[in-house]
Amino acid sequence: MFTTRWTSDLVTGIEDVDQCHKYVVKKINEAYNCFVAGMPPESYLLDEILVYMSQCFDYEQVLMMETCYPDFLAHRDEHELFRERMIDVCKPGNASSLSIDRLLILDQWVERHIRQCDAKLGAFVGELSISGMGSGIA
Ligand SMILES: [Fe+2]
Ligand SMILES: [Fe+2]
Repeated sequence: MFTTRWTSDLVTGIEDVDQCHKYVVKKINEAYNCFVAGMPPESYLLDEILVYMSQCFDYEQVLMMETCYPDFLAHRDEHELFRERMIDVCKPGNASSLSIDRLLILDQWVERHIRQCDAKLGAFVGELSISGMGSGIA
């Protein structure tokens, strides 16, 4: 079993989003490598992953609102469902909750979400930029 590697087909074309995704993928790989080496990752690594994912979500949601993105609600709901599930996993006292199985589920979710949801947003923002309507987008 392998975790997602950062490759060009994960690029959405929205630079800040891509940087954020790249960092999340890197940290998931770091955590995975810890498991493979027989040393479960420190809890701060999971915290870092979640903080960065949350930043990606927030940035994307602001961008979707600013651009009147038509799939905003469905995309936001995916983010919120993920946040709820991760809050359960990270409840205080659940220190041993990041198992390799959970990490792989997290990894699969991230990859699928980038490919299916974020790629669509990237294409939409790209179209706006081409048509000149997105010139004010950060
Ligand atoms: Fe994203
Ligand atoms: Fe997203």
